[in-house]
Formats: sequence, C-alpha cells, structure tokens
Amino acid sequence: MEFNPFSDEFFNDPYEIYRYLRDEAPVYHNEEWGFYALSRFEDVVAAHVDHRTYSSARGVMIQDMNPAALKATPMMIMMDPPKQTRLRKLLSSRFTPSKVADMEPTLRELAGSILDQLADRDSFDFVNDFSSVYPMDFISQLIGVPTEDRLPIRNLVDASLTREAGTPDIPVSAIEAMAEMNLYFREFIAERRRSPKDDLISELMSEEVLREDGVRDRLTDAEILGFASLLAAAGAETTTKLISNALVLIWRHPEVLERILEDPGWIFLAVEESLRFWPPSQIQGRSATRDIELHGVKIPEGSRVLLLTGAACRDEREYPDPDRFDIEREIPIQVALGHGAHKCLGSFLARLETRVALEEFFERFPKFEVNEEACERVHMSNVAGYSSVPISIR
Ligand code: HEM
Repeated sequence: MEFNPFSDEFFNDPYEIYRYLRDEAPVYHNEEWGFYALSRFEDVVAAHVDHRTYSSARGVMIQDMNPAALKATPMMIMMDPPKQTRLRKLLSSRFTPSKVADMEPTLRELAGSILDQLADRDSFDFVNDFSSVYPMDFISQLIGVPTEDRLPIRNLVDASLTREAGTPDIPVSAIEAMAEMNLYFREFIAERRRSPKDDLISELMSEEVLREDGVRDRLTDAEILGFASLLAAAGAETTTKLISNALVLIWRHPEVLERILEDPGWIFLAVEESLRFWPPSQIQGRSATRDIELHGVKIPEGSRVLLLTGAACRDEREYPDPDRFDIEREIPIQVALGHGAHKCLGSFLARLETRVALEEFFERFPKFEVNEEACERVHMSNVAGYSSVPISIR
C-alpha cells in the first residue's frame, strides 16, 4: 500500500492507510517523494520530545522549506531550541490559561455577532459563513489587522496552504499568496513602527530577545513578520477546521447532540474528542539530525521524517476502540496539538474558541441538519478538514 500525502484519497479519508502503516510499516519509506513516516502513537510522541534528533529547522511541511524563505520569514515553529525557546517565551506569557480565559467575553461577542447575522437564513455554509470567519477575525483583532483587511488576509492564508492533488509541488498561486501576505505584513509593521497602537505587533516591537552571543536585542522586522504570519496561519486555519470537524462529528452522533443540547457542559469533552478523532494538523515534518534505527529500519541522517499525528491519534495501542467517537474517553496526551518543545502555543485558545463557537451556535440553532453529501474538504499542506459544510436550519 502506498502512502501519498498529496493524493485525493489522503485528503478525503486517510484512516485505512494509517492503520496499514501502524500495523505493517511503522517506519514507512516513500522512495518516490523521499520521506519516512512514523505512525504509532508511542513513536510520534517520542519523536516530538526528541527535538535533537528530529529537527524542525528545515521546516515542518512535507518537503524541506526553501532556505531563502526560512531566512526571510523566520518562525519559531521552524527552529530548534534554544533559539526557538527564546522567541516562544515572548508569546507564551500571552496565551496562558488565565490570559486566555480573559479573552472569553470577546470571543463570545464575536461568535455571537457573526451568527446573529445568519439568524434569518434557513440555510448557510457553516465554514464559509462562520467557522472560517470567526478565528481569523479574532487573531486579526489580536495582531491589529483592521477589519477591512481581514477577509483578504484570510483568502491569502487559504491560498498559501492550498495544494493540488497528486503533486508535491507548491503551486504558483500558493507562492504568490505567501509573497503578497509578506508584503502586506511588512507594510503593516512599518506603519506600526511609525505609530504604535494597542495591539500585539506594536507590543512585540518593544520586546527584547536574548541572542546566541548573550546580547539582548530588539526583535527585527523579519522576526515580527514571522510571528504575524505564524499566528495568522497556525492560529486561524486549524481552529476553523476544528470547529467544523466538531460540528459534523456531533451531527453524525445524535446521542452526543442530545446530551449537548440538554447540558452544554459536554461540549468541552466533544471538542477534545474531535481533536483526537480528526486532528486539523495531521502531519508535522522533521529532518533527521543523525542516523536513526527504529523497528528494524534505518533512517539516514538528513532524511525527511513525517510525524503522522493523525495516525497516532487512532492507534489502538493507545486508545481502546480508536475509531469510535467517544466523548468520555481519556486522552492523557493530546498529541493532536503537538508535544514537547513545539507543543501548540495556542492550545488553550484553540479549545476555548471552539467551545465558545459551538455553545453560541447550538444556543441559536439547536435544530439543524448537515448536508453531508454536499460537504467538501480542503486540499492543504499540513491542515485537514472541511472547506464547505452546508447546513439547513429546521
Ligand atoms: C485546533 C486548533 C489548533 C491545532 C490543531 C493546532 C495544532 C498545532 C500543532 C500540532 C503544533 C505543533 C507543530 C509542530 O510540532 O511542528 C502547533 C504549534 C503552534 N501553534 Fe497551534 N494549533 C491550533 C490552534 C492554534 C492557535 C489558536 C494558535 C494561536 C495562538 C496557535 C499557535 C501555534 C504556534 C505559535 C505554534 C508553534 C509553537 C512553537 O513552535 O513553539 N495554534 N499547533
């Protein structure tokens, strides 16, 4: 069986192939595309914590990142500790559980106001009209992107991650979208340098970071650009997918929907199980910094190694009856949000944003139907989920 992360089959339903990989080829080698892939829970978690062996410095996509792009937009997600740790510290204090809890009223107001505009409709697209708008609006507000620029930025992020089926090549449209987004944020940063405002980008301008030579220094424009692009992509795309994945999963399980409508307190657990069941980020790419020997296979130094989080989350060696959507199951390590040094910095925010989105949705639209036949899925690098979920309101 071939595992091709660029195929339609993979974008639509990778779970049969994941089972084959875990059972028959736990260190899978794809000669055509030149990568290795780990799929068992234990191996994926171990690789996540061993950043010395599994490096992020050549990017976390399926292929190596272009070194010029890494330099032009330095992002901590594509660095190894201690360099990554120093940058991460600047953001992590802003996304602690208590700081994130303070964001709840803003999130609730934002979700509510988008849904209120849909109140008179008897059908709408849950993704286009809600789940893609709300996280991007929130992150944009945090960064400081003005209202009128939010939709264009969201479209650029979408285009920069979109891939054509059957080929590993990054399409010209994605490269152009990345360039346009960089240009937008460069101008935005220059503007904030001239007149700082009450937003994250302006705050980052006065932060200092400890450099490798021991000198404390202000962040460069390129580093601030890295933060802005990372937050726009990592913060919005994945949450969009989680919200719509959770809605479809709850819809498919009427007993869960019933419990939630009776007591919205269950939403929290439904979100957690949706993360495990359909992780919005299915693959994290790494490169081997030394020869690795695992399950009798040698991975040569320098090889691309994919950590298949999507497969790890369905490993029966970790989760009993893994293909059952069970909101009461125990999930001691939520590897859908990564693990170790790069563990999702927005993990509390992602969960809160999704819980609030669903609470506000079910409160307004307790009777709805998902038109599953008309749902469409994205073809994106590193992000999995729906691009369209048409629903009708009863
Ligand atoms: C459901 C939503 C989300 C999912 C599934 C998700 C998933 C992940 C995963 C798997 C990683 C690890 C990447 C790796 O190891 O290479 C990660 C890292 C990261 N995430 Fe999230 N994420 C989500 C939401 C968010 C949000 C809302 C933010 C906004 C603050 C965010 C910011 C980040 C950042 C900055 C990193 C890089 C951390 C580092 O390199 O140290 N994420 N995310």
